[in-house]
Amino acid sequence: MRTAGMEPSRLLIKGGKVVNEDCSVLSDVYIENGKIVEVGLNLHFPDASGLRVIDATDKLVIPGGVDAHTHLELAFMGTKTADDFHSGTKAALAGGTTMVLDFAIPQKGKSLLEAYDCWRETADPKVCCDYSLHIAVTWWSDKVKKEMETLAKEKGVNSFKMFMAYKDLYMLQDTELYAAFSQCKEVGAIAQVHAENGDLIAEGAKKMLSMGITGPEGHELCRPEEVEAEATQRAITIANAVNCPLYVVHVMSKSAAKVVSNARRDGRVVFGEPIAAGLGTDGTHYWHKEWAHAAGFVMGPPLRPDPSTPGYLMDLLANDDLSVTGTDNCTFSVCQKALGKDDFTKIPNGVNGVEDRMSVIWEKGVHSGKMDENRFVAVTSSNAAKIFNFYPQKGRIAKNSDADVVIWDPKLTRKISAKTHHQAVDYNIFEGMECHGVPVVTISRGKVVYEDGRLNVSPGHGRFVHRQPFPQFVYKRIEQREQVGKPTAVIRKPYAGKIISV
Ligand code: URP
Ligand code: ZN
Ligand code: ZN
Repeated sequence: MRTAGMEPSRLLIKGGKVVNEDCSVLSDVYIENGKIVEVGLNLHFPDASGLRVIDATDKLVIPGGVDAHTHLELAFMGTKTADDFHSGTKAALAGGTTMVLDFAIPQKGKSLLEAYDCWRETADPKVCCDYSLHIAVTWWSDKVKKEMETLAKEKGVNSFKMFMAYKDLYMLQDTELYAAFSQCKEVGAIAQVHAENGDLIAEGAKKMLSMGITGPEGHELCRPEEVEAEATQRAITIANAVNCPLYVVHVMSKSAAKVVSNARRDGRVVFGEPIAAGLGTDGTHYWHKEWAHAAGFVMGPPLRPDPSTPGYLMDLLANDDLSVTGTDNCTFSVCQKALGKDDFTKIPNGVNGVEDRMSVIWEKGVHSGKMDENRFVAVTSSNAAKIFNFYPQKGRIAKNSDADVVIWDPKLTRKISAKTHHQAVDYNIFEGMECHGVPVVTISRGKVVYEDGRLNVSPGHGRFVHRQPFPQFVYKRIEQREQVGKPTAVIRKPYAGKIISV
C-alpha cells in the first residue's frame, strides 16, 4: 500500500523470511528514518500515516549487498572508466548492492590525503548508495606513513591497498610492503594486496610481444597462475612477519586460492576475495576469435583459462577458505579497450560486475547447491562489514542497523545483458547468463530506490561511511598473538671462553 503524494517515511516489510549470516527466520521488518526499528512476527501499526506496507511473502529479506572492491571514475591506463560514481552506484542498487568500497589511488609521489579529498569531492555529490574508501599506497616515505595514521584516526579509512604489480606505476618493493604493512598494523588497518609479481609480468609481456603475440591471449600468457600464487605467498609471509592482517583482493586462480586457504589453515590472519568475474566466467574468452570480445575480459590478474576455476573458487568461498566477494568493477567500453588493439599491454584493465554480482553468486553458489542462503549473506555483505568494521551498521537485518535491505526472489530468473543493464559500459562479460535470484525491491537507508525494474534515486543520496580502526573481528586475534607470541631472549650466563682474534 502506498500513501498518496509524499514518499512514505515508514516501511513495513511483511511476511518474508529474514536471512542473516547466521540464521533465517520468518519475520516482519519495520523501518523508520533510515533505520531498522523492529524485526519480529506479526508487527502491526494502528497509525498508518506515512506507512507503506510491502508484501514479501515467499521472498527473502536480506541485508543489502556490500561490494568491497570497485573502481568508479578511475583514470587508468590512459583513459577513465565508463562508469562513474553515479551510473556505477545506480547499477549497484539495481542489482541489490547498497554499499560499495572504492579505491582512492594517488600517483607515486602524491599525497594520500589529497587523493582522499579528491575522491570524496568527486564521489559525494554523485553516489546513489552509501560508500567508503580504501586508499592505495603506491610509494613509501615518512609523509605516507604519517598520512596513513591521519586517514585511520581522522578520516574513516581503515584499509590500504598495496600493489605488487603495475611496475613503475603503482608497484611497491618488498621492503616497502614491509614498511606499509607495519604501519597498517600500527594504526589498526587492514593491509590489502594486489598480488602478482610485477617484474615477471613485465618480462613476460616483452617475451610475448617479441613472439608476435599481441592479442588479448598475451595478457594471460605473460602472467600465468604461478605469478599470482608466488606474490600471494610473498604477501602473506611479509604480513605475518609483522603480524598484520592481510586481505588479498581479486583472487583469480586456483593456485592463489590454495595459497590463501593453506595460510588460513596455518592460522594466518588472511582473507581472500574472489570477484564476480572470477566466479561467473573464465579466461577461455581471451582466445576468442573476435578481438573486441576477447579484449572485454582483460583485467589483472587475468581470468584463468582452466574452466574448472570458477567452480573451484566457489567451493572455497562456500567453505570459508575465501571470505568476501567484490567485483573489481572497472569498466571500459569497447572503443576504450581498443587503445590496445595492436598491443595487449595497452588494453585498459578491468571488467564489470557491480550490478550482477549478487545474482551471479546466487546462481553459481546457492542455486548450484554449493552454499546456503546464510553463507550467501555472509559472502555478499556481512563478512565485508565485519572485516572493514561497519557491522552491524550494515550487513545485518537487526534493530538499529541501517535500513539497507533487499527483497530477494530466489525463484525468479533474469538474463544478464548489456541491452538491459544499468551500467554505462557498452558490453557485459556475463552476457546471456540466466540467473536465478533477483532483487525485486532495494531499500537504501530506508528509501525504496529500486522496484519493479525501475530506479528511483538521485545523485548524492548515498553517504560516506566512516570506519574505525582496529576492527575486533580481525584485530582481536592479532592483539592476542602480539601478547602471546612475542619472542623472548634466552637468559644465559655470559660466554667466558676464548674468542679468536681477527
Ligand atoms: O584489471 C583491474 N583489476 N583493474 C583495476 C585495477 C586493479 O588492479 O584492481
Ligand atoms: Zn588490483
Ligand atoms: Zn581493483
